[in-house]
Amino acid sequence: MKVVNIGTGYVGLNTAAALAWIGHDVACVDIDESKINSLKNGVVPIREEGLDDLIKNTKIKFTTDLAEVINDAEVIFIAVGTPSLPNGHANLDYVHNAANSIGNLINPTHDVTIIVKSTVPIGVNSSIEDSIRNQVKLNNLDDSLLHFASNPEFLREGCALSDTLYPDRIVIGTNDNTAFEMMSKLYAPLVDQTFTIPDSVQPPKDRPKTYILHTNQASAEMIKYSSNVFLALKISYINEISSLCERLGADVDDVAKGMGLDHRIAPYFLNSGLGWGGSCFPKDTLALLQIAKDMQCDTPIIQAAWYVNEAQIDKVINKLKYEFYELHDLNVTLFGLTFKPNTDDVRNSPAVSLARQLIELGVHVTFTDPVGLPNARKVYADEPFEFEDDPIKASLDSDCIILTTEWKQFKSLDYKAVASNMRHKFMIDARHCLDPKYINDVGIKYIKL
Ligand code: UDX
Repeated sequence: MKVVNIGTGYVGLNTAAALAWIGHDVACVDIDESKINSLKNGVVPIREEGLDDLIKNTKIKFTTDLAEVINDAEVIFIAVGTPSLPNGHANLDYVHNAANSIGNLINPTHDVTIIVKSTVPIGVNSSIEDSIRNQVKLNNLDDSLLHFASNPEFLREGCALSDTLYPDRIVIGTNDNTAFEMMSKLYAPLVDQTFTIPDSVQPPKDRPKTYILHTNQASAEMIKYSSNVFLALKISYINEISSLCERLGADVDDVAKGMGLDHRIAPYFLNSGLGWGGSCFPKDTLALLQIAKDMQCDTPIIQAAWYVNEAQIDKVINKLKYEFYELHDLNVTLFGLTFKPNTDDVRNSPAVSLARQLIELGVHVTFTDPVGLPNARKVYADEPFEFEDDPIKASLDSDCIILTTEWKQFKSLDYKAVASNMRHKFMIDARHCLDPKYINDVGIKYIKL
């Protein structure tokens, strides 16, 4: 099918690459000329397992000119960002701009389904449909060949292509049968797994068959928010249990393992530590809280998930105060800047929130990260952070190492060399990923968050 995808961020680019790989004819549109130019030259602006490979081996057209591609399209995705506004609401400017461009430029001569993939508050799909239809009618064109659907994405950064090519579920929110049929056709190669498996993106073992769930638009929008917020609160729950475990002599990692063996609970998203960050969980939790407030609906559980997540940073600072009492002029090295491993995304990382609070207390903060530093040097150029690529050098004169992202490079590091560089040999493992015995044996006092 002929697909146009608007937006070349994590969601848009991975979706476009996966759809092109399974055989569709895909054009990607973005207003950012430099991004489009680099993609045309084969330079992929984000780091994602297999993405370079799929883009190189498919024929995606990259353009800033929607007019050039829109009227061939059978399917148009809106996959632009919806970042948080200062009041917590999702900023819908990019979504509305994309919808306005579609409304102004489209001249429907065949069935076209317009799909919102961006995460948008409940009701926005329906208002986008109204605004595009109104614009088309204002242009004296017939809107009867236009169809609309909400199709939220569930991809995780770091395994975005695997999540897209081998999804657990595809949610299609529409009351329009043609839209549902067109989307079923679009996704059929994924559901039936009839495409060639790319070497760079192998399917997970024992994966169940993809489930297509057909709902109305509002339910599809709600599934996205409630899934993300559920995962966030699952993490906050284990972090709260962790505080109790610490006081009661229980080991939270054993407790999480014991809980996760119950198939109703499952072991995922029970890793206790510094808490959740990234471009989805904080934004979607805040947005759902705002949506609930607008509806005058109490959501104490969601509020608590947010509160517990913020408190994880205080827990680290309290542990430092317990060890040092006075934090002023302390050298602290943070092992990890990205919000999780296997991504170069440095936005909304709990490690950065921690660093900012440490700096307010007079601490000197050095970051080391195997992948995130080139981005961080740009994004955090105005902040008083030091950056050092080599973790052993980053430990020089350090009073404390805090492991903030569980990169495999940190798990296999020579901590003897790290220890010999440190001024005060103390470590807080805020991701519970190191062997305490090994760290203690090299002479570093080890505690976990
Ligand atoms: C998330 C959702 O998983 C995905 O479905 C959605 O579409 C986008 O948001 P992502 O933001 O890429 O994906 O990261 P994810 O792997 O879910 O982790 C989010 C945060 O939770 C990270 O900061 C991670 O470190 C933290 N986390 C995750 C924990 O603290 N403990 C866990 O057990 C799991």
